[in-house]
Formats: sequence, C-alpha cells, structure tokens
Amino acid sequence: MTTKIFVPCDAAARAVGADKVAAALVSEAKRLGRAVEIVRTGSRGLFWLEPMIEVQTPAGRIAFGPVKAKDVTDLLTSDFSAGHRLHLGRPEELPFLKRQTRINFARCGIIDPLSLAGYRAHGGGRGIERARSLGAAGTVEEVTKSGLRGRGGAGFPTGIKWKTVADTAADQKYIVCNADEGDSGTFADRMIMEGDPFLLIEGMAIAGFAVGATKGYVYIRSEYPDAIRTMERAVVLAEADGMLGPEAGFDIEIREGAGAYVCGEETSLLESLEGKRGQVRAKPPLPAHKGLFGKPTVINNVLSLVTVPAVLADGAKHYADLGMGRSRGTMPIQLAGNIKHGGLFEAPFGMTLGELVDDIGGGTHSGRPVRAVQVGGPLGAYFPRGLFDTPFDYEAFAARDGLIGHAGVVVFDDTVDMARQARFAMEFCAIESCGKCTPCRIGSTRGMETIDKIIRGERTEANLAIVTDLCQTMKFGSLCALGGFTPYPVLSAIKHFPEDFNRPRLAAAAE
Ligand SMILES: Cc1cc2nc3c(=O)[nH]c(=O)nc-3n(C[C@H](O)[C@H](O)[C@H](O)COP(=O)(O)O)c2cc1C
Ligand code: SF4
Repeated sequence: MTTKIFVPCDAAARAVGADKVAAALVSEAKRLGRAVEIVRTGSRGLFWLEPMIEVQTPAGRIAFGPVKAKDVTDLLTSDFSAGHRLHLGRPEELPFLKRQTRINFARCGIIDPLSLAGYRAHGGGRGIERARSLGAAGTVEEVTKSGLRGRGGAGFPTGIKWKTVADTAADQKYIVCNADEGDSGTFADRMIMEGDPFLLIEGMAIAGFAVGATKGYVYIRSEYPDAIRTMERAVVLAEADGMLGPEAGFDIEIREGAGAYVCGEETSLLESLEGKRGQVRAKPPLPAHKGLFGKPTVINNVLSLVTVPAVLADGAKHYADLGMGRSRGTMPIQLAGNIKHGGLFEAPFGMTLGELVDDIGGGTHSGRPVRAVQVGGPLGAYFPRGLFDTPFDYEAFAARDGLIGHAGVVVFDDTVDMARQARFAMEFCAIESCGKCTPCRIGSTRGMETIDKIIRGERTEANLAIVTDLCQTMKFGSLCALGGFTPYPVLSAIKHFPEDFNRPRLAAAAE
C-alpha cells in the first residue's frame, strides 16, 4: 500500500530543511522497499514545528514535527507510529490550529498549491460562481455588506473602493494586487501565494468582474522568489483551464518589485509598475479615479483580495458576523520576533494582545519576560505589558495611538533597548524615504541624530523635546504614511519606556 505523505514547500519550511526531508523520504522509502507518494503543500503556519509533515491514515492526517532528514529512516521503519517522539497527532487538534477560525487560510497546508482539482475539491471557485449570479453591482454590494476593510494597512472599506472604480467610466480599468509585504514580522501574503495561489487569482477575477476591469497585476517583492514562481505557474495553469484568459474576460500578469519599502505604498507601487522610480504621488487624484497608466484602478492587498471568494461563497453575513466593532471578519495575525510559538494565527478580530502574545504565542523564545510588542510593522507603535488588554481591532488600537496595519506582531524581551528601537524607526525612515517631502526626507535624519545625542546622554530633556516636536511635524506634514507614521514607534517608545531614554550607557555601546 502506498503511503501518502504531505511535506510543505512553503519558503519558511524550506528554510529549515523541508526539501531535504522530502528527498530523504523518497530515497529512504526506495531503499526500504516502501511505496510512498509525496505531496508538497503550503504551510499550516506553525513555524516552530516546521518542517511539519503529515501522513495520510484511515483516521485522517497525522502530523510529525519538526522533522529533520536524519529522522526519516526512523519514521519509516516505525511506520509513523503514535509512539514516535515527533508524533503530534491530528493537526486540527493542535491547540494553535484548533483555536483558529480559518477563512483565508482554510486550504493552506492542506492542498497541493498548484492543483486546480484540489483547489476546487476544497471549495475553490464557488465565490466567482456566486459573483456571476449576483452580477457586478450585486458583487460590490456583497463585499460592502461584509464589512471587509483593506488588510494592507489603512483599513479602508474594500466595497467603497470597488464602487468608486465601478462608477468611474473608462475604456480600461485595472486590478492591482499589492504583494509587496514590506512590514516587519509579516508573511501572510507570502504564505497564501505559496500555499493557495488560485485563491488570489479567484479574488482578483471577482474584483475585475465587479468593477469592469479586464487586466490584473500582482506586484510581488523580489525577496519572495518562491511566491513569484508559484504565482507564475498558477497563472499559466489558470489560463489553460479557462479560469483566466479571453473566455474569463480577465488576465493577470506577475510583476517583481525591486525591494523598496515605499513601493508598498499604493501610488509609489503604481509608479514602479509603470517602470518609473518608486516615488509617492500626491492625492488626489485617487488611484480609483486615475491609477495605473492613468486608468481607474482597484489596488488591494493580497489578504483583502483572498477574503473576497469566501465572502461571496458563504455570504456577506457569514463573514460580517465575526469580529468586533467596525473590524469585521477574521485577520491572519502573524506572530514573530522573540516568540516561542511563531506563525500564522487567523482569528476573528477581538482577541487581546495579551492573549495573542502570552497564550497563543507562549511568551518569548528566549524565555525572558516580554517587555514590548510592536504591532503593524515598522510604523507601528510599541505596546508595553500595561496595554496587553487592547483587543485586536482597528479602532481599539488607534485609540491607544497604535495601528494594526498588516497584523504583524513582533515581540521583544526585557533585553531590548527602546531608545535604540526609536532610533531604528528614524533610521528606517531615512533609508526608505522616497525623498519627495521635507518632513520625512530631512526630519528622519535629524531625528536619528537627535536620538543619538539622547543615547549619548547629551542634554536629554532638551533633545527629547526636540524629537517630540519633530515627530509632530513629520506626523502632520508628511505626504504619506512613511513619514507620517514613523513618529508612532518613536513616541510610543518615549511614552511607555521613558527609563530607556534617560539612563547612562557605556560610551562604546552608544557608537
Ligand atoms: C510606506 C508604506 C508601505 C506600504 N506597504 C504596503 C504593503 O507592503 N502591502 C500593502 O498591501 N499595503 C501597503 N501599504 C498600504 C497601501 O498604500 C494601500 O493602502 C493598500 O495597498 C491598499 O489595499 P487594501 O485597501 O486592500 O489594504 C503601504 C503604505 C505605506 C504608506
Ligand atoms: S512621507 Fe517620505 S516616503 Fe512619503 S512621500 Fe514624503 S518623502 Fe516620500
């Protein structure tokens, strides 16, 4: 009897040896005279257990992990026994997975990403079918009713954006998928593109149908070669199938970004897609009116677009019933940094930061106390333990001068120096600034220099006042959120960790 074994081909699993495990399974099975079929899947998102492999049994799939190539002989000869030290049991029963509500990631880690048959067998394709039955305007209305807000950072209602493009007359419209995913500690876009690429294709095709666009682009950062490869193959397969192409009335091209954080900003991304230097455009006009090549354009994050098929397939109400306040549905939260159980945790909005970090994430990887958590990427605020009761909700975070952004949660233990983190925020802004406006271009460099003085202990109070004042100028005077939000990590570090800005350091350590 052939044993079916699922091995992730996700970049995070490959980085810790998944390919070697797959190769060892094939060669060792041959040597031992065992028949095995290896199926490569996406990742389930439990990174501390990767490579986590799953074996098909009459009782369902059984997981083992973290597996190294040297464990393979043992696993095969023990016949994947329940007594094996790497035995984890049924993956769905692992607490990290059991506590999730997987809508976006329902198929990720389960199917072969490039099998359209597998995609459809697990519910794929139902969204576009329902969209066609509702018609274009009905589809926009359904997305609006779901309460879906953009997952790229700004949380703008997706339905309103789509309606603006749908209502703008033009001979050509575009759907642009923002897969630049530049935020620190984030990987959800990458995982879904590597693990369930047809879902993104379906989401973009629905968007095209809803607003009257015939062409889509996926702009993927160059640091994601696996995602680029998988998406390119998926597009070819979808064209051969008729899911894309003339019959479907919608085409997709994959474009590789050169790797600038600011190219994730939508107008800068459009410039880059047009082959120009990635520099932010002043708004108005909005991309919805005058976007790519001057045409009305829907630009959405990967996670926004992959939510749409489920919204259509199961109805807006089903989705909108989840969550809290104005944050409806689920959010794929990415637990990263110094955390014991890092990975992808999709849950309805509303869990507190403390539950996510302490309970789900298991505290720090180092075993030391958690001191600070940065949520929402490099422009997100640092939250101390005192704010761990903040629920994961756009408004709740904003009320505490924070942001959810793309839902990256980066954990730091008590060895972190928050003055250096504040300096890093300014340095990051200085390096990544597109240079178009003064508060960001000049302010970030001056901010970095002033924080250096504070770290050296020079006129601490006066320099703290200068940084605070500078932050106000950047916040209210910058053209885009790169300069406008850099003050959030800086000011939150000063507010919540004042002791780190007013303490003696070794002279050498300040260099
Ligand atoms: C500096 C900067 C970087 C950004 N990077 C990203 C990114 O990597 N991915 C993304 O989807 N949105 C990013 N955004 C937000 C986009 O400008 C835009 O709001 C988003 O793509 C819209 O899609 P959504 O409505 O689906 O969120 C960034 C914004 C700024 C200011
Ligand atoms: S804030 Fe910074 S990145 Fe944004 S437009 Fe101004 S200079 Fe460019």
